[in-house]
Amino acid sequence: MTFVNINDLRLASKKRLPKLLFDYIDGGSLSEETHRRNISDFSKLRLRQNVLGEYAEPDLTTEYLGSKHPLPFMLGPVGFLGLYSRNGEQKAATAAHAAGIPLCLSNFSIASLADLRRVTAGELNFQLYLLDDRTLCEDFLSAAESAGVEKLFVTVDTAITGIRERDVRNGFRSLTHVTPKLFASMCLRPRWLLEMGPGGMPSVRAVAHRNDFGKGALEQAANLSRRIDKRVSWKDIEVLRDRWKGKLIIKGILAPEDAVSAQNIGVDGIVVSNHGGRQLDGAMSTITALPAIRAAVRPDFSLMLDGGVRRGSDIIKAIGLGADGVMLGRAYTFGLAAAGKAGVEHTIETLRREITVTMTLMGVNSIADLKKRGRDLIIEDERLTPTKDESLFQTE
Ligand SMILES: Cc1cc2nc3c(=O)[nH]c(=O)nc-3n(C[C@H](O)[C@H](O)[C@H](O)COP(=O)(O)O)c2cc1C
Repeated sequence: MTFVNINDLRLASKKRLPKLLFDYIDGGSLSEETHRRNISDFSKLRLRQNVLGEYAEPDLTTEYLGSKHPLPFMLGPVGFLGLYSRNGEQKAATAAHAAGIPLCLSNFSIASLADLRRVTAGELNFQLYLLDDRTLCEDFLSAAESAGVEKLFVTVDTAITGIRERDVRNGFRSLTHVTPKLFASMCLRPRWLLEMGPGGMPSVRAVAHRNDFGKGALEQAANLSRRIDKRVSWKDIEVLRDRWKGKLIIKGILAPEDAVSAQNIGVDGIVVSNHGGRQLDGAMSTITALPAIRAAVRPDFSLMLDGGVRRGSDIIKAIGLGADGVMLGRAYTFGLAAAGKAGVEHTIETLRREITVTMTLMGVNSIADLKKRGRDLIIEDERLTPTKDESLFQTE
C-alpha cells in the first residue's frame, strides 16, 4: 500500500495493531466531540491565494521555543510508542532528528531518555506529569538533565483521566496482564505479534526499578495514570519554575486567562492543547481557541499548538493564526504503527510536501512571511460564521 496522506497511515495502523492499541491511539473521551472538532474546525478556515508573485521554493525554517528548526512542526509527547512498534521511541526520535526536528519524549514511555541518547544526539525534549510521588518526579528531572534536555513540557490537563469509552470497552488500563481474550486479539494481528512477541511484554524503563508500579507496560501504565497528582496548582508550577533551569513549557492550555497566568508565572511558553480531545469532551477545538490566546499574551510569548493536525495546510492555518510552531500527536503515531521508522519519516515528509505545495500556491515564500502576514492569509468561511459573535477570531 502506498501512503498518500496521513489518513492512509491511520488506516494501515488500524490493520496492523491489535484493536486495544489502535483504539487507545485513535480514540477520544466520551462522545469524542472535541476530538472530531479538533480536526474539522481546520476546515472552517480558508487560505488566501495570491498568484504571479516571483516563484521561489518556500523557506520552511522557523523559530519556535527559542530555537531555529528546518520545519514548523515537531513530534509531541505520545505515551507508550514502544508498544506500537518495537523500540518505537528510538524509531520516532531518530526519524525526527534525521529531519532536524525535536521529539518530546512522553513521561509514559517504554524507552528512557538514556535509551534514546544511545541512538541519537539530536534535540530531545521531555514531557513530565506531576505525580503524587515527587521523589520520583525529581528522578525524572535528574534523568532529563543527564540526557541534556533543555525544554521541559509539563502537562496540566490531566487532573483526572478523561473517560475514553473505547478503552473502557477494551479494558485498556484495567488489564494488567495479557488475558486469553487480549492474546486472541493480538493473534489477529500477526505482523505486529511477530515484531513485538519475541521480546515479551515491554516495560516502562523509567519506573522499572519501582516494584509498586508493577511489572510490564500494561500494569505500569494503569498505575502511572492513577498516580498523576490531582491537586496540582499554579503553586506547583512556581516550584517547578524554580527547580528547572532550562525552558519550561506548560502543555494543555485552552483559555486565554490561563495563558496569561502561565506567562505571568514566568514559563517560557505554552502548548494550546486539549490533549487531542482525550480529556474534557465538549472543550473548544485548539484552532478555535488559538486566536483569543494569541491576542491575550505578549506577542513574543511562545505558543505551540497541537490537536487534529493531519494536513500541511492545518499547520499553515495554525501559524497564520499565531502559533509559533505545531506539535504532532496521532499523525506520526499512525506512521510509526503502520511502518515503524519509515512510517514516521513518511509522516514528516508528507507534511513537508503538503506545506511546500500549499505555500507555493498561496504565494507565500517563507514561514517568516506567513508569520508576518498572519491572519490576512487565513480567512473565515462566512457561511459557517454568520454573526460576528460566533467569529473564530473573537478575542474577548
Ligand atoms: C496515544 C496517545 C498518547 C498520548 N500520551 C500523551 C502523554 O503521555 N503526555 C502528553 O502530554 N500528551 C499525550 N498525548 C497527547 C498528545 O501529546 C497531543 O496533545 C495530542 O495527541 C494532539 O492531538 P492529535 O493527536 O489529534 O494531533 C497522547 C496522545 C495520544 C493520541
